Amino acid sequence: MADLDGQKKNKEFFAEVPQAAPGFFLKGSHQYDWGLKNRLSRVFNPKDGRTLMLAFDHGYFQGPTTGLERIDQTILPLEPYVDCLMLTRGIQRSIVPATTQKAIALRASGGTSMVSPFDEWEGTDGDDAIKLGRPGYEPLSNESIACSIEEALRLNANVLAVQVFIGSQHERQTIKNMTDIIDQANRYGIAVMGVVAVGRAMARNAQYFRLATRIMAELGCHLVKCYYTETEFETVTSCCPVPIVIAGGKKLPELEALKMSYNALEQGASGVDMGRNIFQADDPIAMVQAVAGVVHGGLTPQKAFKLYEELKAGKKAKKK
Ligand code: R5P
Repeated sequence: MADLDGQKKNKEFFAEVPQAAPGFFLKGSHQYDWGLKNRLSRVFNPKDGRTLMLAFDHGYFQGPTTGLERIDQTILPLEPYVDCLMLTRGIQRSIVPATTQKAIALRASGGTSMVSPFDEWEGTDGDDAIKLGRPGYEPLSNESIACSIEEALRLNANVLAVQVFIGSQHERQTIKNMTDIIDQANRYGIAVMGVVAVGRAMARNAQYFRLATRIMAELGCHLVKCYYTETEFETVTSCCPVPIVIAGGKKLPELEALKMSYNALEQGASGVDMGRNIFQADDPIAMVQAVAGVVHGGLTPQKAFKLYEELKAGKKAKKK
Protein backbone atom coordinates (compact mmCIF):
# COMPACT_ATOMS: atom_id res chain seq x y z
CA MET A 1 0.00 0.00 0.00
CA ALA A 2 1.35 3.44 -0.92
CA ASP A 3 2.26 5.92 1.80
CA LEU A 4 -0.45 8.40 2.61
CA ASP A 5 -0.33 11.68 0.66
CA GLY A 6 0.91 14.53 2.72
CA GLN A 7 2.94 12.46 5.15
CA LYS A 8 5.52 14.89 6.52
CA LYS A 9 8.39 12.60 7.49
CA ASN A 10 10.76 11.62 4.65
CA LYS A 11 11.74 7.98 4.32
CA GLU A 12 15.05 7.11 6.01
CA PHE A 13 16.83 4.12 4.50
CA PHE A 14 20.15 4.54 6.35
CA ALA A 15 21.80 3.12 3.23
CA GLU A 16 25.26 3.99 4.54
CA VAL A 17 24.76 2.08 7.82
CA PRO A 18 25.23 -1.68 7.49
CA GLN A 19 22.70 -3.64 9.53
CA ALA A 20 24.39 -5.14 12.54
CA ALA A 21 24.77 -8.91 12.62
CA PRO A 22 25.60 -9.48 16.23
CA GLY A 23 26.56 -12.86 17.52
CA PHE A 24 24.81 -14.34 20.53
CA PHE A 25 26.28 -14.24 23.99
CA LEU A 26 25.43 -17.76 25.09
CA LYS A 27 27.61 -20.80 24.49
CA GLY A 28 26.39 -23.02 21.66
CA SER A 29 23.21 -21.01 21.17
CA HIS A 30 24.08 -18.70 18.26
CA GLN A 31 22.15 -20.66 15.63
CA TYR A 32 18.81 -20.85 17.44
CA ASP A 33 15.68 -19.04 16.31
CA TRP A 34 14.58 -15.70 17.78
CA GLY A 35 12.05 -17.04 20.26
CA LEU A 36 14.44 -19.53 21.82
CA LYS A 37 17.20 -16.93 22.04
CA ASN A 38 14.80 -14.51 23.67
CA ARG A 39 13.69 -17.12 26.22
CA LEU A 40 17.31 -17.97 27.02
CA SER A 41 18.15 -14.26 27.33
CA ARG A 42 15.66 -14.05 30.17
CA VAL A 43 17.31 -16.97 31.97
CA PHE A 44 20.94 -15.96 31.36
CA ASN A 45 21.80 -12.30 31.81
CA PRO A 46 23.11 -11.10 28.41
CA LYS A 47 25.54 -8.74 30.19
CA ASP A 48 27.63 -11.52 31.71
CA GLY A 49 26.13 -14.69 30.22
CA ARG A 50 25.36 -16.06 33.68
CA THR A 51 22.30 -17.09 35.61
CA LEU A 52 21.18 -17.54 39.17
CA MET A 53 18.33 -20.01 39.13
CA LEU A 54 16.48 -20.71 42.37
CA ALA A 55 15.50 -24.40 42.52
CA PHE A 56 12.49 -25.25 44.65
CA ASP A 57 10.95 -28.09 42.68
CA HIS A 58 12.03 -30.74 45.22
CA GLY A 59 8.43 -31.35 46.29
CA TYR A 60 7.70 -33.17 43.05
CA PHE A 61 9.16 -36.32 44.56
CA GLN A 62 9.80 -35.55 48.23
CA GLY A 63 6.82 -33.48 49.35
CA PRO A 64 7.33 -30.63 51.84
CA THR A 65 11.13 -30.52 51.91
CA THR A 66 12.75 -28.64 54.79
CA GLY A 67 12.56 -24.97 53.89
CA LEU A 68 9.78 -25.49 51.35
CA GLU A 69 6.88 -26.19 53.72
CA ARG A 70 5.40 -22.77 52.92
CA ILE A 71 6.75 -21.52 49.62
CA ASP A 72 4.66 -18.36 49.88
CA GLN A 73 6.46 -17.50 53.12
CA THR A 74 10.03 -18.64 52.46
CA ILE A 75 10.62 -18.61 48.71
CA LEU A 76 8.66 -15.64 47.37
CA PRO A 77 10.83 -13.19 49.37
CA LEU A 78 13.88 -14.56 47.49
CA GLU A 79 12.36 -13.97 44.05
CA PRO A 80 13.66 -10.41 43.53
CA TYR A 81 17.30 -11.56 43.71
CA VAL A 82 17.32 -14.35 41.12
CA ASP A 83 17.07 -14.63 37.35
CA CYS A 84 14.94 -17.73 37.09
CA LEU A 85 12.54 -19.80 39.19
CA MET A 86 12.83 -23.57 38.87
CA LEU A 87 9.55 -25.05 40.04
CA THR A 88 6.63 -27.37 39.41
CA ARG A 89 3.45 -26.34 37.65
CA GLY A 90 1.46 -26.91 40.84
CA ILE A 91 3.49 -24.38 42.78
CA GLN A 92 3.64 -21.97 39.86
CA ARG A 93 -0.16 -21.84 39.60
CA SER A 94 -0.96 -21.91 43.30
CA ILE A 95 1.74 -19.67 44.78
CA VAL A 96 3.82 -17.69 42.27
CA PRO A 97 2.20 -14.40 41.22
CA ALA A 98 1.55 -14.24 37.47
CA THR A 99 3.02 -10.73 37.59
CA THR A 100 6.53 -12.09 38.14
CA GLN A 101 9.10 -10.86 35.66
CA LYS A 102 11.41 -13.79 36.32
CA ALA A 103 12.12 -16.58 33.87
CA ILE A 104 10.48 -19.93 34.53
CA ALA A 105 12.23 -23.32 34.46
CA LEU A 106 9.37 -25.76 34.69
CA ARG A 107 9.79 -29.31 35.99
CA ALA A 108 8.58 -31.57 33.16
CA SER A 109 9.43 -35.08 34.35
CA GLY A 110 8.26 -37.06 37.37
CA GLY A 111 6.13 -39.94 38.48
CA THR A 112 7.99 -41.52 41.39
CA SER A 113 8.59 -40.52 45.01
CA MET A 114 11.22 -40.79 47.71
CA VAL A 115 9.18 -43.55 49.35
CA SER A 116 9.18 -45.68 46.23
CA PRO A 117 10.38 -49.13 47.30
CA PHE A 118 14.15 -49.60 47.27
CA ASP A 119 14.91 -45.97 46.64
CA GLU A 120 18.49 -45.62 45.47
CA TRP A 121 18.69 -42.03 44.35
CA GLU A 122 20.62 -39.58 46.48
CA GLY A 123 19.26 -36.21 45.48
CA THR A 124 17.14 -35.99 48.61
CA ASP A 125 17.50 -34.26 51.95
CA GLY A 126 19.76 -35.81 54.54
CA ASP A 127 17.21 -35.07 57.22
CA ASP A 128 14.37 -36.83 55.48
CA ALA A 129 13.82 -40.54 55.63
CA ILE A 130 15.34 -42.16 52.57
CA LYS A 131 14.90 -45.82 51.92
CA LEU A 132 18.02 -47.42 50.62
CA GLY A 133 17.63 -50.59 48.69
CA ARG A 134 19.57 -53.14 46.82
CA PRO A 135 22.30 -51.95 44.43
CA GLY A 136 21.32 -51.42 40.83
CA TYR A 137 17.59 -51.06 41.49
CA GLU A 138 16.53 -47.46 41.24
CA PRO A 139 12.79 -46.84 41.23
CA LEU A 140 13.23 -43.04 41.32
CA SER A 141 14.70 -43.28 37.85
CA ASN A 142 11.42 -44.74 36.61
CA GLU A 143 10.16 -41.31 35.51
CA SER A 144 7.78 -40.25 32.77
CA ILE A 145 7.14 -36.97 31.06
CA ALA A 146 4.94 -35.11 33.53
CA CYS A 147 3.93 -31.99 31.62
CA SER A 148 2.62 -31.43 28.09
CA ILE A 149 4.03 -28.83 25.75
CA GLU A 150 0.67 -27.00 25.72
CA GLU A 151 0.88 -26.73 29.51
CA ALA A 152 4.41 -25.33 29.21
CA LEU A 153 3.12 -22.70 26.76
CA ARG A 154 0.19 -21.81 29.03
CA LEU A 155 2.63 -21.35 31.89
CA ASN A 156 4.98 -19.29 29.71
CA ALA A 157 7.96 -21.51 30.48
CA ASN A 158 11.39 -20.44 29.30
CA VAL A 159 12.92 -23.80 30.12
CA LEU A 160 11.62 -27.33 30.63
CA ALA A 161 13.64 -29.39 33.12
CA VAL A 162 13.87 -33.13 32.72
CA GLN A 163 15.70 -35.57 34.98
CA VAL A 164 18.00 -38.02 33.20
CA PHE A 165 19.49 -41.03 34.98
CA ILE A 166 22.55 -42.03 32.94
CA GLY A 167 23.83 -45.43 34.08
CA SER A 168 20.65 -46.29 35.97
CA GLN A 169 18.16 -49.05 35.51
CA HIS A 170 15.89 -46.67 33.57
CA GLU A 171 18.57 -44.86 31.58
CA ARG A 172 16.96 -45.49 28.20
CA GLN A 173 13.51 -44.44 29.37
CA THR A 174 14.71 -41.17 30.91
CA ILE A 175 16.78 -40.35 27.83
CA LYS A 176 13.67 -40.96 25.73
CA ASN A 177 11.69 -38.63 28.03
CA MET A 178 14.35 -36.01 27.36
CA THR A 179 14.47 -36.39 23.57
CA ASP A 180 10.66 -36.42 23.33
CA ILE A 181 10.48 -33.20 25.35
CA ILE A 182 13.22 -31.65 23.17
CA ASP A 183 11.28 -32.52 20.00
CA GLN A 184 8.15 -30.90 21.38
CA ALA A 185 9.93 -27.89 22.86
CA ASN A 186 11.85 -27.19 19.65
CA ARG A 187 8.54 -26.65 17.84
CA TYR A 188 7.87 -23.62 20.01
CA GLY A 189 11.32 -22.33 20.89
CA ILE A 190 11.32 -23.43 24.52
CA ALA A 191 14.67 -24.49 25.98
CA VAL A 192 15.21 -27.89 27.60
CA MET A 193 17.50 -28.42 30.55
CA GLY A 194 18.72 -31.97 31.12
CA VAL A 195 19.24 -32.57 34.83
CA VAL A 196 21.89 -35.16 35.65
CA ALA A 197 20.49 -37.38 38.41
CA VAL A 198 23.20 -39.41 40.08
CA GLY A 199 22.33 -42.89 41.29
CA ARG A 200 24.26 -44.36 44.20
CA ALA A 201 25.89 -46.80 41.82
CA MET A 202 27.50 -43.90 39.90
CA ALA A 203 30.63 -42.08 41.02
CA ARG A 204 30.11 -38.35 41.39
CA ASN A 205 33.28 -37.48 39.49
CA ALA A 206 34.33 -35.53 36.41
CA GLN A 207 34.52 -38.65 34.26
CA TYR A 208 30.85 -39.42 34.95
CA PHE A 209 29.69 -35.82 34.47
CA ARG A 210 31.66 -35.47 31.21
CA LEU A 211 29.83 -38.52 29.92
CA ALA A 212 26.37 -37.56 31.16
CA THR A 213 26.42 -33.87 30.19
CA ARG A 214 27.89 -34.57 26.77
CA ILE A 215 25.27 -37.22 26.01
CA MET A 216 22.51 -34.79 26.93
CA ALA A 217 23.98 -32.01 24.81
CA GLU A 218 24.53 -34.31 21.84
CA LEU A 219 20.91 -35.40 22.05
CA GLY A 220 19.70 -31.81 21.92
CA CYS A 221 19.51 -30.24 25.38
CA HIS A 222 19.94 -26.48 25.32
CA LEU A 223 21.48 -26.43 28.78
CA VAL A 224 22.53 -29.05 31.30
CA LYS A 225 22.50 -29.14 35.07
CA CYS A 226 25.00 -31.25 36.98
CA TYR A 227 26.96 -31.27 40.22
CA TYR A 228 30.30 -29.55 40.73
CA THR A 229 33.36 -31.76 41.12
CA GLU A 230 36.39 -30.77 43.17
CA THR A 231 38.76 -31.95 40.45
CA GLU A 232 38.72 -31.56 36.66
CA PHE A 233 35.42 -29.68 36.59
CA GLU A 234 36.84 -27.47 33.81
CA THR A 235 36.98 -30.59 31.60
CA VAL A 236 33.25 -31.15 32.17
CA THR A 237 32.37 -27.63 31.06
CA SER A 238 34.87 -27.50 28.21
CA CYS A 239 33.64 -30.62 26.43
CA CYS A 240 29.96 -29.81 26.85
CA PRO A 241 28.94 -27.61 23.89
CA VAL A 242 26.03 -25.94 25.71
CA PRO A 243 25.89 -24.05 29.03
CA ILE A 244 26.24 -25.97 32.27
CA VAL A 245 24.64 -24.81 35.51
CA ILE A 246 25.53 -26.48 38.78
CA ALA A 247 23.11 -27.91 41.32
CA GLY A 248 23.78 -26.90 44.89
CA GLY A 249 23.23 -30.32 46.43
CA LYS A 250 22.92 -31.01 50.13
CA LYS A 251 23.23 -28.10 52.55
CA LEU A 252 26.81 -26.96 53.18
CA PRO A 253 28.14 -24.24 55.47
CA GLU A 254 27.45 -20.93 53.71
CA LEU A 255 31.09 -20.09 52.93
CA GLU A 256 31.60 -23.51 51.34
CA ALA A 257 28.52 -23.09 49.16
CA LEU A 258 29.81 -19.71 48.02
CA LYS A 259 33.25 -21.19 47.27
CA MET A 260 31.65 -23.98 45.27
CA SER A 261 29.62 -21.47 43.22
CA TYR A 262 32.68 -19.30 42.61
CA ASN A 263 34.91 -22.21 41.59
CA ALA A 264 32.29 -23.63 39.25
CA LEU A 265 31.92 -20.28 37.48
CA GLU A 266 35.69 -19.81 37.29
CA GLN A 267 35.89 -23.26 35.69
CA GLY A 268 33.38 -22.55 32.97
CA ALA A 269 29.91 -23.00 34.46
CA SER A 270 27.34 -20.52 33.18
CA GLY A 271 25.46 -20.30 36.42
CA VAL A 272 24.09 -21.98 39.48
CA ASP A 273 20.70 -23.59 39.94
CA MET A 274 20.67 -23.72 43.70
CA GLY A 275 18.03 -24.81 46.15
CA ARG A 276 18.86 -26.14 49.61
CA ASN A 277 22.04 -24.12 50.02
CA ILE A 278 19.89 -21.01 49.70
CA PHE A 279 16.54 -21.82 51.26
CA GLN A 280 18.02 -23.93 54.09
CA ALA A 281 20.66 -21.30 54.92
CA ASP A 282 20.54 -19.65 58.31
CA ASP A 283 19.35 -16.52 56.57
CA PRO A 284 18.02 -17.34 53.08
CA ILE A 285 17.48 -13.71 52.04
CA ALA A 286 21.07 -12.84 52.92
CA MET A 287 22.35 -16.02 51.25
CA VAL A 288 20.55 -15.45 47.97
CA GLN A 289 22.11 -11.99 47.78
CA ALA A 290 25.55 -13.39 48.55
CA VAL A 291 25.20 -16.02 45.82
CA ALA A 292 23.99 -13.32 43.41
CA GLY A 293 27.10 -11.34 44.34
CA VAL A 294 29.27 -14.25 43.23
CA VAL A 295 27.29 -14.98 40.06
CA HIS A 296 26.75 -11.43 38.81
CA GLY A 297 28.64 -9.08 41.11
CA GLY A 298 32.20 -10.31 40.70
CA LEU A 299 32.51 -11.08 44.43
CA THR A 300 35.05 -13.56 45.72
CA PRO A 301 33.64 -16.16 48.11
CA GLN A 302 35.19 -14.32 51.04
CA LYS A 303 33.63 -10.99 50.05
CA ALA A 304 30.30 -12.67 49.40
CA PHE A 305 30.44 -14.33 52.80
CA LYS A 306 31.19 -10.96 54.40
CA LEU A 307 28.14 -9.57 52.63
CA TYR A 308 26.11 -12.52 53.90
CA GLU A 309 27.21 -11.90 57.48
CA GLU A 310 26.54 -8.17 57.24
CA LEU A 311 23.07 -8.67 55.79
CA LYS A 312 22.29 -11.29 58.41
CA ALA A 313 23.54 -9.08 61.25
CA GLY A 314 21.66 -6.08 59.85
CA LYS A 315 18.40 -7.95 59.92
CA LYS A 316 19.01 -9.16 63.45
CA ALA A 317 19.79 -5.61 64.53
CA LYS A 318 16.59 -4.30 62.97
CA LYS A 319 14.51 -6.95 64.70
CA LYS A 320 15.70 -5.86 68.18
C1 R5P B 1 16.02 -32.20 42.40
O1 R5P B 1 15.62 -33.11 41.80
C2 R5P B 1 15.70 -30.90 41.91
O2 R5P B 1 15.82 -30.89 40.52
C3 R5P B 1 16.44 -29.73 42.47
O3 R5P B 1 16.01 -28.66 41.73
C4 R5P B 1 17.94 -29.84 42.39
O4 R5P B 1 18.40 -30.95 43.09
C5 R5P B 1 18.65 -28.57 42.85
O5 R5P B 1 18.44 -28.30 44.12
P1 R5P B 1 19.60 -28.38 45.20
O6 R5P B 1 20.45 -27.17 45.01
O7 R5P B 1 18.85 -28.37 46.49
O8 R5P B 1 20.38 -29.64 44.96
